[in-house]
Amino acid sequence: MANILAIETSCDETAVAIVSRGRELLANQVASQIDTHARFGGVVPEIASRQHLLALNPLIRKALEEADLDWSGIDAVAVTQGPGLVGALLIGVSTAKALAWALGKPLLAVNHMAGHIYANMLSDKDVEYPLVCLVVSGGHTELISMSGDMTFEILGQTRDDAAGEAFDKVARVLELGYPGGPVLDKLAQEGRDELDFPRTMLEEGSLDFSFSGLKTAVLNHVHNLRQKGEAVNKADVAASFQAAVVDVLRRKTEMAVDRVAPVSLMLAGGVAANSQLREAMEDLATARGISLLVPPQHLCTDNAAMIAAAAWPLFVRNRQDNLDLNAIPGLDLDDIVENC
Ligand code: KG4
Ligand code: ZN
Repeated sequence: MANILAIETSCDETAVAIVSRGRELLANQVASQIDTHARFGGVVPEIASRQHLLALNPLIRKALEEADLDWSGIDAVAVTQGPGLVGALLIGVSTAKALAWALGKPLLAVNHMAGHIYANMLSDKDVEYPLVCLVVSGGHTELISMSGDMTFEILGQTRDDAAGEAFDKVARVLELGYPGGPVLDKLAQEGRDELDFPRTMLEEGSLDFSFSGLKTAVLNHVHNLRQKGEAVNKADVAASFQAAVVDVLRRKTEMAVDRVAPVSLMLAGGVAANSQLREAMEDLATARGISLLVPPQHLCTDNAAMIAAAAWPLFVRNRQDNLDLNAIPGLDLDDIVENC
């Protein structure tokens, strides 16, 4: 038996999961705060922390019930250490430390981005290395190469807005609500990609991203039409914006694949739920004759099952973090943190 109970509180979802051997989902509880933050048009950090505090203990109880386990069935406690909102992270970290201490079980600190990548390990398929992973979420856009388990090299990342952040800001100006990605994705299917928005590729050969020019161009387009009293075709704006984001993500990923020559390609993070991006990555993998791994939709956005999956290789290596573990809001994927 090797059941890891994992806690995720880095942003606006309180999540608890219990996963056996890093693969088999025994419980996956997610309490979303989206409704609470929606009226502010984005996440309010102080409110997020308070909501995590209210939601976490009942959610842990629910997870144990769902897995039909009592505390004796838990072998380790994993938690997201960062990156994320510091107050939100601290609720999870403090709870995990208390649990690990009370149970006398190992405490395992997990990087949230590693979690997104390891959501792919929850599928039945075996993962082969080297691989290239495109991680696209509300806070991050990164191209990562992995030569083996838990070995990450960042090939490129955004220099300004994350892809998901651009989706959310464009959705906000189109009055589509928060979070914008899923609604914009649906609306784009009814529109035409006919508006010429910038597809910033940066310097020749760069695997970094920049989405702020695209975001500003879309916002200016909408504001100009409104100032002139003209109608905004929201579906066309959505389709043209999404096509520009997906085109840049696909071309950069293609460059990374040609550089690393991986045996597989992975997609991860909240924006991996995007239908057009999934199709583009499928086309790319097929064209290069490599396999593609994409988590199921519900494991793309924040959850704790992915944190348990990323904690598994740490557990197997007998890693055990200390009880003075602290949240690190700016934790990088390639940071080596000695908390053991
Ligand atoms: O990974 P995630 O749940 O949270 C972070 O770690 O940031 O990602 C949330 C982001 C939001 O920006 C949301 O708008 C975006 O993922 N998202 C999508 C879709 N579903 C969620 N973006 C585009 N298309 C979607 N279908
Ligand atoms: Zn996330």
